[in-house]
Amino acid sequence: MDKKEHKPHCLILPYPSQGHINPLIQFSKRLAHKGITITFAVPQGVLVSSAVNADIAVETISDGYNAATRADADPQEYLASFKKAGTESTSRLIEELREGRGGAVDCVVYDAFLPWGLAVAKSKGLFGAAFFTQTSSVNAVYYSVFKGLLKVPVSERETVLPGLPPLGVADLPSFVVDPEKRPGMLELLVGQFEGVEDSHFVFVNSVYELEEEANEWMKKSMSVKTIGPAIPSIYLDKRLQHDTNYGLSMFKPDDTCMKWLQQRPPKSVIYVSFGSIAKLEEREMEELATALKLTGRHFLWVVRSSEASKLPANFAGGASGGKGLVVPWCSQLEVLAHDAVGCFVTHCGWNSTLEALSLGVPMVGVPWWSDQSTNAKFVADVWKVGVRACPDEEGVVGREELARCVECVMEGEEMRENARKWKELAKGAADEGGSSDRNIHEFVSTLMGGVK
Ligand code: UDX
Repeated sequence: MDKKEHKPHCLILPYPSQGHINPLIQFSKRLAHKGITITFAVPQGVLVSSAVNADIAVETISDGYNAATRADADPQEYLASFKKAGTESTSRLIEELREGRGGAVDCVVYDAFLPWGLAVAKSKGLFGAAFFTQTSSVNAVYYSVFKGLLKVPVSERETVLPGLPPLGVADLPSFVVDPEKRPGMLELLVGQFEGVEDSHFVFVNSVYELEEEANEWMKKSMSVKTIGPAIPSIYLDKRLQHDTNYGLSMFKPDDTCMKWLQQRPPKSVIYVSFGSIAKLEEREMEELATALKLTGRHFLWVVRSSEASKLPANFAGGASGGKGLVVPWCSQLEVLAHDAVGCFVTHCGWNSTLEALSLGVPMVGVPWWSDQSTNAKFVADVWKVGVRACPDEEGVVGREELARCVECVMEGEEMRENARKWKELAKGAADEGGSSDRNIHEFVSTLMGGVK
């Protein structure tokens, strides 16, 4: 097909976890809205529901696993298998697509967890674009390790890196402090930068103005373009009815909580969620449950089915004092956008943090692992939209501490005011002509031009 008549076609390769699929599918929708054909490729059996527009096709590739074996896979073995099976099946898919819907693929947008996506793109003579699901500040830490500027494990009381505020040990991503706790994870995160300097584009699901200095520092080495917040447009502007759904889900949301929220007064509910991966200890669950009761406030707590057995006996069934609702999964954006929600007790996964920032909800940070400690540091000390709860000597956040933090955020006028400010900023970035919109537009124009 003649390049000029051909509508540009992007093949999107997410790492198959909810925290990676969400930002990539939202980004895909933005691209589709600007006239790009999208094929979204996920390993078989990952999704439980799919609600995307006709301009996005979901295809299957192989990671060498199936739904039953994937959950317990060793991370290193899984990645090695995905690299091999993924390279073969993605290359095959690109060939098949040439004759099928949307025609020849022009660009592979690959999750930075899957750096082999760039090799596939290059082997086919296509554009390659990396997509980072974590902040530029967190990327700057891992990139410093990649470049030998930061030695791990880090034990100094304070780490000073370009573009970042001074970071204490507890503020650094957990894997650079204690790489042995989850073998393979540091290699995966540092490995994101393998070959990235050769990527035509490097997308980051963040907002430029949230971390200007880290973005500028990263830009010196690679073509960083912030494109966030990657959330459906309707949450940023109620008039944008073309984009209302999350899109692709690995969990089934419980619908009862929206009705329940409807019956609560404005800013009265504590929303609690630890994302799609975190596994809390039984004691952590008990402290959390008791803290929620201690506050005497309404709460909505997401406890995934795989975690439910750790809840204190009968807690979900009424022992919460009738003030709370426990659900296995919810439509988090709808919840955060609801007027009844007053604060978010969060593990500070980057999607949850950016969603709360974009919807103006102040936070209590209870980081669990990975980049979450750095995100919590920014929430409390840089963006000042929340507090970070202090763990005790066993590393558990106790009931009194958590209840204190919740009160502080529920009553904190300054944090709420800051939250309103960041909400405006996030909307501005995504609006036409905003920093993220311009970056997306530039990418689309390059694809339309077709010249590498
Ligand atoms: C992981 C990492 O923890 C995170 O730090 C990293 O940046 C991306 O991958 P996860 O732990 O699942 O993700 O947390 P988070 O990044 O917050 O992503 C969870 C996603 O699931 C969010 O988009 C959130 O809106 C959604 N969610 C969560 C729901 O839709 N419903 C829920 O009940 C809970």
